[in-house]
Amino acid sequence: MSIPQTYQRIVLAERPRGPVKPENFRLETVAVPQLADGEVLIRNHYLSLDPYMRGRMSAAKSYASSQPLNETMIGGTVGQVVASRNAFFQVGDYVNGMLGWAEMGVSDGVLLRKLDTTRIPLSAFLGVVGMPGMAAWYGFNQIMEAAAGETVVVSAASGAVGSVVGQLARLRGCRVVGIAGGPQKCAYVVHELGFDACVDYKAGNLEADLAAATPDGIDAIFENVGGACLDAALARTNAFARIALCGLIAGYNGAELPIKNARALLLNRLTVRGFIVTEHMEFWQHGLQELAVLVANRQIKYRESVADGLAAAPEAFMGLLQGRNFGKQLVKLI
Ligand SMILES: NC(=O)c1ccc[n+]([C@@H]2O[C@H](COP(=O)([O-])OP(=O)(O)OC[C@H]3O[C@@H](n4cnc5c(N)ncnc54)[C@H](OP(=O)(O)O)[C@@H]3O)[C@@H](O)[C@H]2O)c1
Repeated sequence: MSIPQTYQRIVLAERPRGPVKPENFRLETVAVPQLADGEVLIRNHYLSLDPYMRGRMSAAKSYASSQPLNETMIGGTVGQVVASRNAFFQVGDYVNGMLGWAEMGVSDGVLLRKLDTTRIPLSAFLGVVGMPGMAAWYGFNQIMEAAAGETVVVSAASGAVGSVVGQLARLRGCRVVGIAGGPQKCAYVVHELGFDACVDYKAGNLEADLAAATPDGIDAIFENVGGACLDAALARTNAFARIALCGLIAGYNGAELPIKNARALLLNRLTVRGFIVTEHMEFWQHGLQELAVLVANRQIKYRESVADGLAAAPEAFMGLLQGRNFGKQLVKLI
């Protein structure tokens, strides 16, 4: 395998105020470093774009430290080992790492996972069989406690996380109702993913449409969005409903997220639990194995939005925060 002398990367040039803009990023060419003992050089094939990156771009206090300025943007990657001074990784191995928005990267092997691509395509390890899939698996299995016959509501239902939650719930025998933006996404959620119903929150009748889709109320919510989506679902909760609070993407660009139906929390004795999936690594091996079997057997379907080339990453990331993606947002580098 020939190794280039230089590669391209994208750094955070400045912190966004409000919506993310192209000038928040800078594309740079840098030299490929020499490997030290124990290190591995990887050529990234796909970069994952994820909503959490918006939080890292801010200097505000959070569960994780901020992305430093002028350094490679954080991000999950899958790629192939092109040089190795680590006995555990050989040239040609496919690996999943956190090498960021870059064509290549060096790892000490600690956070690197070898991938078996015989039954699962490489890109899926960044989505359905990766961190987003695990967020779905963890929230569904450890928080929602959804039984067969119960009604489950999932927001951002066509996306990387939401699509998996709904399909896990369907496999358990729940009544599954998605919330998504636009008729195309809703049609996909129902006809391709097998949800029982999907409410288009952009159609203007969210509360009434969700009420019609949940005639027996809601027993468990997987919340990815916040704002109006969460409020409409709160209004439909049954006694002792559970809420897995996974994300609040409607607020990531700075919008306030008031909760109007807070009364439901008390009146319906709701349980709300926020979680960060990377704080529950003890579940990952088991969860990823389960997801891999379901994907390989086509019991769980997934969809990807693929941007072409590293330079397309900022625009694709801005799109992700505005719902322009349709399925897991990736950037194809090779
Ligand atoms: N807690 C954790 O450990 C963890 C891990 C992974 C992901 N997450 C969270 O899970 C959520 C989904 O992430 P993902 O990777 O699966 O992304 P995704 O759903 O594939 O893409 C994001 C989607 O969010 C929706 N959206 C964006 N802005 C919105 C707005 N203002 N109002 C309503 N919907 C909006 C859009 O779908 P529509 O077109 O349908 O609006 C967009 O396609 C995010 O909140 C993310 O932060 C949390």
